[in-house]
Amino acid sequence: MKTVYLIYPKKVGTIAPEIYGHFSEHIGGVFYDGLWVGKDSSIPNIDGFRKDLIEKLKAINPPVLRWPGGCFAETYDWRDGIGKDRPVRRNWWTPNDKRQEDNSVGTHEFVRLCELIGAKPYFAANMTATTPLHIRNWMDYCLSAQGSTTLAKEREENGSPDPFDIPFWGVGNENWGGGGNMRPEYYADEYRRYATLMDNVSQTAELFVCGSNADDYNWTHGVMQGIAGSWSRTNGFAMHYYCGYAGDVTAFTEDEWDQQLVQANKMEEIIKRNWAIISAHNMQDKCKLVVDEWGCWHPDGSGPSKGYNLFEQQSTMRDGMVAALTLNIFNNHCDKVKMANVAQLVNNLHCLFLAGGENMIVTPTYHVFDLYKDHQGADCIESIVTDNDTLNSSLSVSASVKDGKTLVTIANLSCREDIDFELAAAGMTLPASAKAKLLYNEDMHAHNSFENPDAVKVTDLDLDLSKPVMIPKTAVMAITF
Ligand code: AHR
Repeated sequence: MKTVYLIYPKKVGTIAPEIYGHFSEHIGGVFYDGLWVGKDSSIPNIDGFRKDLIEKLKAINPPVLRWPGGCFAETYDWRDGIGKDRPVRRNWWTPNDKRQEDNSVGTHEFVRLCELIGAKPYFAANMTATTPLHIRNWMDYCLSAQGSTTLAKEREENGSPDPFDIPFWGVGNENWGGGGNMRPEYYADEYRRYATLMDNVSQTAELFVCGSNADDYNWTHGVMQGIAGSWSRTNGFAMHYYCGYAGDVTAFTEDEWDQQLVQANKMEEIIKRNWAIISAHNMQDKCKLVVDEWGCWHPDGSGPSKGYNLFEQQSTMRDGMVAALTLNIFNNHCDKVKMANVAQLVNNLHCLFLAGGENMIVTPTYHVFDLYKDHQGADCIESIVTDNDTLNSSLSVSASVKDGKTLVTIANLSCREDIDFELAAAGMTLPASAKAKLLYNEDMHAHNSFENPDAVKVTDLDLDLSKPVMIPKTAVMAITF
């Protein structure tokens, strides 16, 4: 029997809502046939965006949406996506040359999407293939007051007199790889060039420096060395960690279930070690972590498009469990992590939605974001799991308090045993009963499909807290009181 012990007086920090952020790239089927069906489509849409998906997404309170990539951002010219006559470009990130980028979705359409779902836009600026001036001009186009500059007037002619609110700007993407294959010292100098000009347009927009690929701490050290100091115009360290795959996406073994979660759990070590290096350069106040790509990365071809959409993959309870574990880690390190963006939203890596033609379904990961959404903006309190029987706990837990309401999210990482636990607390008298939601399917391989859209779903529970609570193996539980 385990005890989940909630320590109310020990506040870790406030959980930034942006930790529950998302990522949408012009890659595979994320936009075209995913989010975007076009205004003239017979599929119900709002200004071209798939209506049922918009409604579902809005329901989980998405705080921020990153765009247009990813690697695509490093080939993107923002001028292609404004005005009436938009060019068609090659997009390497769509397979088989079957679909080029026709730029149907550009700056105005993306900002509209963010309005529809209630999210703040986060733009990733191209620093591999453009100039600081070109990105400064994009900021001018988006942020300048009505009529104040020629670019603001062009924005108005394109239908948006009021400036857009784009609070977050990434300066490059994966510049250690697809974004120019730069060395950290070189990137840091380039970052200084771009950030100096971007700061000309806005002193309040947050600028994120390209962070490490997973545990490449050499990158972290080199970049911090290059940008630390009195100038340091930066507001976040945008690192990526994908926990890869273990076995087949839907037909994995118990050992592969474990292996996937071990890989996912490495997120905690990467957060701690990057934070140690940032702090060693005295940059902890300016450079909190922005984990702007994270998730599983299975071989593609298992989604409904059967390989037509690059990186599209099915998503089982195991992927939902990775999401639950990762979000608990972010909550418990909310003093270090200010934003995170699961990759990606639709028809791609660790997605929340699969969509095509008339069909649209949610994945187990969507349900996890739903169960966890009230952590956004809440105070995280310390939680520990004690156990008299074993050394290691297979319960992942985080807990938060907002407006006097406690939310405890518990994931049973074991695929072998149901677990009994009791809730106990310091600094608070727990109530005798509580409401709970349970994400569970007795088959750990369970996933939703166009044919069976509700194979994995959430059930409501009433818990008697005076007795031990049982969480089934592979289940995620959200308790509120
Ligand atoms: O999310 C898919 C790709 O993964 C992104 O384009 C890139 O940033 C990362 O390598």
